[in-house]
Amino acid sequence: MPRMAGRTFSLSVNGERVRVSAEPDEPLLWVLRDQLQLTGTKFGCGQGQCGACKVLIDGQPLWSCQVPVESVAGSSEIVTIEGLGQPGNLSPVQAAFARHTAFGCGFCTPSMIVEATALLRDNPRPTRAEIVAAMNGHLCRCAAYPNIIAAIRSVADSDREDEAR
Ligand code: FES
Ligand code: FES
Repeated sequence: MPRMAGRTFSLSVNGERVRVSAEPDEPLLWVLRDQLQLTGTKFGCGQGQCGACKVLIDGQPLWSCQVPVESVAGSSEIVTIEGLGQPGNLSPVQAAFARHTAFGCGFCTPSMIVEATALLRDNPRPTRAEIVAAMNGHLCRCAAYPNIIAAIRSVADSDREDEAR
């Protein structure tokens, strides 16, 4: 159950400025899910262990279960899975995950895509080892790891094909 609101904070989420009411130490995860209905970001462990809650904060994939809302109020740019693409307008990474069926139940998928998006932005041609290292902090109970890696590699490979044209 959400806690009673304490203070008002101004956040930038998916390119829009929003105001939320929360205790300063309320994890960003709950503000996103309970107040902004951005439920693509998941609660797994609440301890920074499973990676299910990752969002981009100023471009960095971070655990929203560990980030107090106060610390990202003001100028921080928060991007959730909903900000990366929408049905009918998927991002390249989202489309690749769909193409490769890189999921089972889909619970871990939003944060996997958030992480992979940041990886490919910073390193458009990651090796398999680099992909594994980047995705290492994400648990997938469905063990969809081979398809996840294949999806990420396909985005990197399509960049190569674009260059060859
Ligand atoms: S819910 Fe944040 S890391 Fe597991
Ligand atoms: S797809 Fe089910 S937990 Fe990863």
